[in-house]
Amino acid sequence: MNKTENQILVIFGASGDLTARKLVPALFNLHQADQLPDNFIVLGASRSDMTDSAFRKKVVSESTYLKGKLEGLSDEGIKNFANKFFYEDLGGSYDTDYSRLRKRVEDLKNKYQTSGNIIYYLSTPPTLYETIAHNLAEAGMNTQNNGWKRLIVEKPFGYSLDTAKQLNTGLQKFFKEDQIYRIDHYLGKETVQNLLITRFANSIFEPLWNRNYIHHVEITNAESVGVEKRGGYYDTSGALRDMFQNHLLQIVSLIVMEPPISDAPEDIRNEKVKALKSLRVMKTDKELFDNTIRAQYTKSVIDGQEVKGYREEEGVNKDSTTETFAAIKFFVDNWRWKDTPFYVRTAKRMPTKATEVVIHFKTPHHQIFQESGLDSKDNKLVIRIQPDEGILLKFGVKVPGQGFKVERANLDFYYSSLAETHVMDAYERLLLDAMQGDATLYARADEVEAAWEFVDPILKYWSSGKDVRMYGYAAGVWGPENSHELIEGIGEWRNPGPNLTDDPGFCVIC
Ligand code: BG6
Repeated sequence: MNKTENQILVIFGASGDLTARKLVPALFNLHQADQLPDNFIVLGASRSDMTDSAFRKKVVSESTYLKGKLEGLSDEGIKNFANKFFYEDLGGSYDTDYSRLRKRVEDLKNKYQTSGNIIYYLSTPPTLYETIAHNLAEAGMNTQNNGWKRLIVEKPFGYSLDTAKQLNTGLQKFFKEDQIYRIDHYLGKETVQNLLITRFANSIFEPLWNRNYIHHVEITNAESVGVEKRGGYYDTSGALRDMFQNHLLQIVSLIVMEPPISDAPEDIRNEKVKALKSLRVMKTDKELFDNTIRAQYTKSVIDGQEVKGYREEEGVNKDSTTETFAAIKFFVDNWRWKDTPFYVRTAKRMPTKATEVVIHFKTPHHQIFQESGLDSKDNKLVIRIQPDEGILLKFGVKVPGQGFKVERANLDFYYSSLAETHVMDAYERLLLDAMQGDATLYARADEVEAAWEFVDPILKYWSSGKDVRMYGYAAGVWGPENSHELIEGIGEWRNPGPNLTDDPGFCVIC
């Protein structure tokens, strides 16, 4: 276990939902696992008027997100954790003089001997990121002569390529790139990191990981929920910005990348950038028309319950043209992947919540077993990101009896079988990494820009109104019917079930 230096975590936007829902539970897990530094405190800062004890109540003792975790803990134990939390009211605006904040940080630092190491976590609307960075610098709180300073920023990182570039330049005026940690919580998921291990720690996959053996790659990210209470935000974002530009392109980069020369953060990040830069950017209206599909969920009845359509959701414009479903087909212009199609889709209000990558291998180049139906039984490697995390390999076996009939069998691995191992939650892992100065699982400026470079033309085309269609799908189904058209000639999307092996492999029951 790496040693974590003493430090303060300052959370801007601490009265918001993310702090109570994700950050504090992650810190609690680290606390229980004895992974927080000896001298460590959290200072929440935002515009609400709150005392330290009200903040502790809100995010710890009375937090619904911690309830289950606190059960069984003594009052003393809860207090021990809660006492690490402090709060500073910034007044009416984040754009203010931070000298009072600085004084508070200094006082806490001296009292709790946390040293001058500080993480600033920006959990505010992105429009405030640069303002906060600027005000921190004005107050001299970004200097590293007395302990390091790091800045964690939440997504969305930009709204387009231009705004992402502006944001990068804006932040880099006050913090150096190696001080900036852009969080993408998918990179904190064990199963996403395991893509690197699957590829680069196994001699059975990597030799096949290219256009010669892989027919196509399919990624599905499905959520059963709708936009919940985030209609206002979502309506200005949409599936492409909300999930595809960041989380899904991060997964794509790990599938596409070349082997890094080592596991050092910059070696891995350099390869990811190269991968993202090799995605073929769609330029013509025809390409964009043929290779992208967007849709919105419409009202429906799921399990006897009426479910609102997207346009009826709170905060959503009645005539909204924001997509809740996006499916994109694309190619990667490099030696390894030439002519291998990638299909990626993401959506809300699908039948289940599941994210998986499916590597479809080519069928054997010469078919010996004529009647085997092998064409429809390609070898597949299913990498299940969530839930029921694991890996499934589908391969052909002989059906007992005369002749050579082939069926598919499953070889599977489940993370849950590692009963002894605590699988860290994404935020827990990412916070600990930032505390230790490991940026491997954070997105670098050029990575984010390369992802926008690919996404921007699609967004522009979709907003241009040029023969772009907005399809509808009833809440609770696998997207619009025509989404299969994208994958035509190859088959259909694989619709994941709640469990990894929902579609059983071959077995003989006797
Ligand atoms: C967030 C998106 O980044 O990821 C949400 O803003 C989405 O809209 C969420 O629901 C999905 O995360 P996970 O970890 O539940 O797949």
